[in-house]
Amino acid sequence: MSPSPLRARLSAVRQRLRSRFTRFGSLKRLYPVNPSFGLGKGTPVDRYYIERFLDSQREVIRGRVLEIGDRRYTEKYGAGVTSSDVLHFVEDSPDATIIADIADCPQIPADSFDCIILVQTLHYVFDMRSAVSELHRIVAPGGHVLCTVPGISQISRYDMDRWGDRWRLTSLSATELFATAFDPTRTSVATHGNVLASICFLEGIVAEKLLPRELDTHDEDYQLLVTIDAAKNRQ
Ligand SMILES: C[S@@+](CC[C@H](N)C(=O)[O-])C[C@H]1O[C@@H](n2cnc3c(N)ncnc32)[C@H](O)[C@@H]1O
Repeated sequence: MSPSPLRARLSAVRQRLRSRFTRFGSLKRLYPVNPSFGLGKGTPVDRYYIERFLDSQREVIRGRVLEIGDRRYTEKYGAGVTSSDVLHFVEDSPDATIIADIADCPQIPADSFDCIILVQTLHYVFDMRSAVSELHRIVAPGGHVLCTVPGISQISRYDMDRWGDRWRLTSLSATELFATAFDPTRTSVATHGNVLASICFLEGIVAEKLLPRELDTHDEDYQLLVTIDAAKNRQ
């Protein structure tokens, strides 16, 4: 049902007043409050959502677990972990047990892991479709891939200068991407964030500066973070 003409007029007037009297305060600036996601000042807003997602997935972080770069979330959220591997793209990580390109890793046998924690990595890979196909191959039947990707984010300069920061995803592209290899009925895609959380994240204003309600309000049109839980069929 469309709004009545009076209601539509009132809403237009309200919108005009709001944009006329917008007070930017200290945010009318061309450079962010903190150019490094707020690291060192508290919890970057994307990490608040990443941790909330992984916390909700504790029961599948078990058995043979693979994580990228380091094992911080395996240690924090895993229970009943029987082996912990760390995959890194280049040989400069002290934690790495596997050096590989996730888009092309024939050296990793099929069905190797019960859980793969792929946090903030897939968007660095040019051929994301090959990466998802490899993830499906190396996760064991019944195992889970827990993946997070940015929807709204500044460039990560550190990563751009090393392996390249290439993509931002939406709930739609993440759903379509994972459906190229995983059973869509065993894949859950969710989005996290709202306009305020997104502005704070872009400015490098940390999660501790926001109220729980400000972080937890969900707006599907401001997809700061996209999370994917993809399970491989047991056959
Ligand atoms: C920002 S870290 C993400 C993981 C980290 N544990 C975290 O929670 O932020 C970026 C990681 O992407 C990995 N990476 C980049 N390109 C890759 C590729 N093609 N294959 C496998 N890993 C890749 C790098 O090895 C690096 O560890």
